[in-house]
Amino acid sequence: MASTHHNDVLRIAICGGGIGGLSLALALKTFSRNKKLLVDLYEADPSFTEIGAGINLWHRSRYILDQLGIDDSLKTRSFSPPMKVRRSNTPDGILYYESQTPGDVASVTLHRREMLSLLVEGLGFGTEPDSFIATHFSKRLTGYDQDSSGVTLHFQDGSTAHAHVLVGADGISSATRKAMYSQLAEHAQMTDPDRADSLMTNGTPIWAGIHIYRFLIDAAKIRAVEPNHASLLQSIVWGGEGIHVVTYPISPTIINAAMCVDIPGGFGTLLSEHTKVPVAKEEITQLTEGWEEDLQILIKNSGDIVRWSVSQVQPLPQFVDGRVALLGDSAHAMVPFAGAGAGQAIEDAYILGLLLSQPSVNTSNIADVLNIYDTIRKPFSQDVANRSTRMGKFFQLHPDHLPPHVDFEKTRQGDRAELEKLGNAIDDLWSFHYTEMPSEDWKRAKSMLDEMLQADGGR
Ligand SMILES: Cc1cc2nc3c(=O)[nH]c(=O)nc-3n(C[C@H](O)[C@H](O)[C@H](O)COP(=O)(O)OP(=O)(O)OC[C@H]3O[C@@H](n4cnc5c(N)ncnc54)[C@H](O)[C@@H]3O)c2cc1C
Ligand SMILES: *[C@@H]1O[C@H](CO)[C@@H](O)[C@H](O)[C@H]1NC(C)=O
Ligand SMILES: *[C@@H]1O[C@H](CO)[C@@H](O)[C@H](O)[C@H]1NC(C)=O
Repeated sequence: MASTHHNDVLRIAICGGGIGGLSLALALKTFSRNKKLLVDLYEADPSFTEIGAGINLWHRSRYILDQLGIDDSLKTRSFSPPMKVRRSNTPDGILYYESQTPGDVASVTLHRREMLSLLVEGLGFGTEPDSFIATHFSKRLTGYDQDSSGVTLHFQDGSTAHAHVLVGADGISSATRKAMYSQLAEHAQMTDPDRADSLMTNGTPIWAGIHIYRFLIDAAKIRAVEPNHASLLQSIVWGGEGIHVVTYPISPTIINAAMCVDIPGGFGTLLSEHTKVPVAKEEITQLTEGWEEDLQILIKNSGDIVRWSVSQVQPLPQFVDGRVALLGDSAHAMVPFAGAGAGQAIEDAYILGLLLSQPSVNTSNIADVLNIYDTIRKPFSQDVANRSTRMGKFFQLHPDHLPPHVDFEKTRQGDRAELEKLGNAIDDLWSFHYTEMPSEDWKRAKSMLDEMLQADGGR
């Protein structure tokens, strides 16, 4: 184990080079100025890739991306379309919510490829020989062991690697999470078999009970039919009963679209990942028959359509075990209705990156430090997941899940005042995006760290 020779150097293994893993690498690079860290990034694919097209980022994420030095470039590659929510399942349609969020804290939309490039450019790959980070492509983690000195990573190709800390940023089908929860279950087996069973199921994602049809629309085609079509410049939720469609521009030529459909009784079925199948346009045309004309125009002009069966990770009892931590979708994959998952991965990376960069954090206290990350990030991200699920129900006018003071029948009849009440509830649900910045979470984490070190010093 040659890698553990330098006691002063903290060796960090990141498994997964998606938005979460790359954000963590960039946070470590940015925050660890006076500290020697060595980062090994292991990515299962032969290169960094993103699937899907559009992504929506909110102010909390942008605050962090600014700290990481990439918000200026983000501004030049993203849009900030005003957000509207409509009831669209009648030929007229009703606009019932317009975001009043001030422009400087509004959300931005961009192509996922651009987001990944911003992070890769921020890391400066390829521009200089870098002793801070080593990237290892085509390395698929299959499991790990840990002892009091560190973690041994096992890869599919039979090789192993060693580190002081392992961060599993390996997405919804996380091998790190599976290994963590099967180890936790094994330990619980002797004393509490019921708990062991529940830990075992924690390792596996469940179907969120929804289909999301994702497609792109050529803006030129829409302009040709209707030069002032609202979707060209706005971010719009087109809501109906059990279905909503989200559209927003991600470039001057492309509108990103996602049609989300509730499948009654589907929630909780086991699926190991998001499954994706190409489908014919008729499938979504049928689902929105009789909806407002502007939406029909978008669907008529859609590009290829892929139907995702979207999964989520059940609220985990812990994100951390010893020297191993979960980050991003691995820890809390959620439905994407409060513009949420990637933002939460970026927030995880910010807190964990700051913690690991503190001069006082080293290989002997790392497990306690990871528990601080867990204490700060678990409740927050799980609350966002809860909001995101509820947001979907609001958009889809779900009779059993509207806010208690909103009358379903009245919304159904198109009662504007009632719909505006729903609009206020929507506004409340996503207000967390701009009311408080993640620096407040860091303050809490830092004071927990200081307390911990003080207690250690006094021992
Ligand atoms: C339809 C849809 C729309 C969404 N829209 C938004 C949105 O608008 N805003 C938002 O904030 N979020 C959105 N999300 C959520 C967002 O996409 C995710 O939360 C985010 O991409 C998670 O990033 P991650 O780095 O945690 O995981 P991933 O992006 O999944 O990255 C994981 C990486 O790990 C690698 N990997 C996997 N297994 C292994 C292994 N065993 N060993 C090594 N490497 C491995 C993978 O190849 C991948 O590169 C949406 C999600 C969906 C499904
Ligand atoms: C780790 O840090 C703590 C607190 O800063 C210190 O007491 C301890 O000696 C350090 N351990 C090593 C191995 O450097
Ligand atoms: C969200 O949290 C509230 C309060 O804890 C709970 O009652 C509700 O069931 C949760 N909803 C979802 C969708 O998780």
